[in-house]
Amino acid sequence: MAKIGSMTNKIRTAMVGCGGAAWVGHLPWLWENPHIDLAAVCDPNSERGTKAAERWNVPHVYQEFDKLLGEQPLDAVVIATPPQTHHDLAVTALQKGLHVLVEKPLAVSTDQCDSMIAAAGKAEKILTVSHEKRFNPGFEKVHQIIHEGLLGDVFYLAVHWSAAVRLDPDSLSPPDYRSSYEWRWTDPESGGGIVFDHLPHYLDLWRWWTGSEMATVCAELLNVRKDWIGDAKLGGPHEDFGTALMKFENGCIGMFETGNAGRGLSPIQMVGSGIGEWSEYGMIYGTRGHLIFDLLPWDSPEMPRIMMYSLEDKAPNYRGWFQVEMADPWRGAGGPLAPKSNSHYHFKRQMDDFASAILDNRNPQVTASDGRETVAAVEAVYESFQTGKKITLNHAAK
Ligand SMILES: NC(=O)c1ccc[n+]([C@@H]2O[C@H](COP(=O)([O-])OP(=O)(O)OC[C@H]3O[C@@H](n4cnc5c(N)ncnc54)[C@H](O)[C@@H]3O)[C@@H](O)[C@H]2O)c1
Repeated sequence: MAKIGSMTNKIRTAMVGCGGAAWVGHLPWLWENPHIDLAAVCDPNSERGTKAAERWNVPHVYQEFDKLLGEQPLDAVVIATPPQTHHDLAVTALQKGLHVLVEKPLAVSTDQCDSMIAAAGKAEKILTVSHEKRFNPGFEKVHQIIHEGLLGDVFYLAVHWSAAVRLDPDSLSPPDYRSSYEWRWTDPESGGGIVFDHLPHYLDLWRWWTGSEMATVCAELLNVRKDWIGDAKLGGPHEDFGTALMKFENGCIGMFETGNAGRGLSPIQMVGSGIGEWSEYGMIYGTRGHLIFDLLPWDSPEMPRIMMYSLEDKAPNYRGWFQVEMADPWRGAGGPLAPKSNSHYHFKRQMDDFASAILDNRNPQVTASDGRETVAAVEAVYESFQTGKKITLNHAAK
């Protein structure tokens, strides 16, 4: 077991950034993990820091990151701030000898990612990135289905994801949490629009499912709301709708479309047509079967629904479309934030992986290099849109 600094023999951790992602994806799971001592929160917005500290019983509240690191003997930080701040915060923490879990995207450029990876290597500390979809049991099931050969050779992966993120929040989150997300559309430094927000999640899954890297991409972006930041002719960042057509090194085609300018209707869950709702679904085609998955929003603890058709699946002993069996989500009183009722929840499982990677001195399931690849993909999407050309990815820097 790795040596950790604190008297309590727990991983003394600070939450940096106390907005929507922290509230849903990190604070509850830092608080709940038996190996973690949630020692401090930090946010320049003192109201947000104080609110988080009150809710999660955190003894120290900071508004300045340097002061936090100067005063608190920490083992780790979790960073959930806007993307343009990730690099400097993570590198400073790594140089201080702390382990780091940073929200996606890892950073706003591959150069920044490389600098963070180098800092982690030098410090010999963990740097991981929040691609929590990998910890969703539904997506683990998809990985298993592909690897058991039930779809044959996968040749097409497609995702449609439209999110009404400027509208009402749903019930699991503080009432104002989506309003704080406006930097995505108002700060030119934030790296990109909706494609930068969403594509990293699925590119990470596709790389994991197929074991193959993206080779080429061509993309088209739109700003349906006509509120580009900067020069509209140059395109991204800050598109609110986009499509990307990708080819993978193994020959698979990937098709990704995403937007927050309109909402579709998801095919199985039948969500997405109302205020604040969401549609997020995908298809996988193989030579021996097809699969479709359909999700509720990122903060939902419910499992995705997965339907498939396989010529290889002998288990149900019939051929045709069937629903893939999933463990029922189990909710205790108090809902998904109730202790001990969240064993399947992707953000909890991600935090458990971070803690056990620190304690067992092993790599986390999602590495910083994985995060870098997803940033490289988005850079190529923007380059394709700006030049009107198909872009070939360069994986040499890995
Ligand atoms: N993994 C996911 O599913 C998921 C979902 C939502 C957001 N995110 C990511 O999480 C990150 C944060 O997004 P959000 O929705 O929480 O945004 P947000 O605006 O709700 O919260 C960000 C918080 O960071 C604080 N902050 C800004 N600079 C800071 C600094 N230097 N030090 C400390 N705090 C600082 C802000 O005051 C704000 O409270 C982004 O990278 C976003 O892409 C990931």
